[in-house]
Amino acid sequence: MQDFAGKLAVITGGASGVGRSLALALGAEGARVLVADVDQDGLERIEADLNDKLIDGDTQYCDVSDPESVEALASWAFGELGGAHLVFANAGVSAGEAGNLWDYSPHDWQWTFGVNFWGALNTINAFMPRLTAQGDEAHFVTTSSGNGAFIVYPDQPIYSATKAAVAVVTEALHIQTRRQQSPVKVHVLFPGPHIVDTGIFDSDRVRPEAFEKPADAPDTGIRTAEDLRKIMELMGQELRLTHPDEVAQSAIDGIRNDQFWIAPMNPDSKEKIRARFDSILNQSEFPIPTLG
Ligand SMILES: NC(=O)c1ccc[n+]([C@@H]2O[C@H](COP(=O)([O-])OP(=O)(O)OC[C@H]3O[C@@H](n4cnc5c(N)ncnc54)[C@H](O)[C@@H]3O)[C@@H](O)[C@H]2O)c1
Repeated sequence: MQDFAGKLAVITGGASGVGRSLALALGAEGARVLVADVDQDGLERIEADLNDKLIDGDTQYCDVSDPESVEALASWAFGELGGAHLVFANAGVSAGEAGNLWDYSPHDWQWTFGVNFWGALNTINAFMPRLTAQGDEAHFVTTSSGNGAFIVYPDQPIYSATKAAVAVVTEALHIQTRRQQSPVKVHVLFPGPHIVDTGIFDSDRVRPEAFEKPADAPDTGIRTAEDLRKIMELMGQELRLTHPDEVAQSAIDGIRNDQFWIAPMNPDSKEKIRARFDSILNQSEFPIPTLG
């Protein structure tokens, strides 16, 4: 798809970060946008931003971890709004796990898998049948992460596991749709080339009470990219950041170029991926990956 004008783009997790940038960038290309999120205040803010920029946009509360909520979103997009041609399963959280893996709270595992993995799958299940039946060229994009899908960083195994799962399911979906010569093109987005400066460090702002972190759980103390920068500096490492607008542009370019892997990467990440795959192929030990 080259021309987005008049097309409806549905973006989950669109009230902040990468999703917000996607909504504004696609709107600037003439697309109509439907932003879905659990953050009501964030939805009000993005609605005001869309209005300011004269973008034809709607917002809807949607909890991607709840299949009925995603079904309601799809039903609205394909009913009242006349169908969608771009769907971004983008909502995601990080539980801020710290310490030993075997000590993590089940709430951290359940919440993160609920949003990141089940959220993506619920979005596939609600939208793919409708996109397929519509019969027009359309694009379905999941947001994974190099953290998990390409490199296993040792300190965020819950997040990494969810993102590896998203990448695997998306790859299978891509192969299935390609085999059927479906008009629905599937892509997987890996925001980068560096850590993206978004609200992900403070995902707890939208953590439901049912998955509350136990009061005695270890805390990373990281709530912003700036917090992470300070910790990395203490370890003698430099934090380089990517703006989410750059990620949105990569996604748009990737859709236009019909790329399955939309994965802007820096040379350091490439080196880590090579080292990991070498160790798999050679069955040898690998260097412990460090962030950055
Ligand atoms: N920031 C990075 O460096 C980075 C890197 C790789 C991948 N990602 C991925 O990018 C995606 C967007 O994250 P971001 O970095 O922009 O963070 P963000 O916190 O700025 O945005 C995530 C959005 O998801 C929403 N959300 C959370 N739970 C939800 C739920 N149950 N239902 C619907 N919406 C929900 C949040 O309210 C928020 O608006 C995520 O999937 C994340 O894992 C981010």
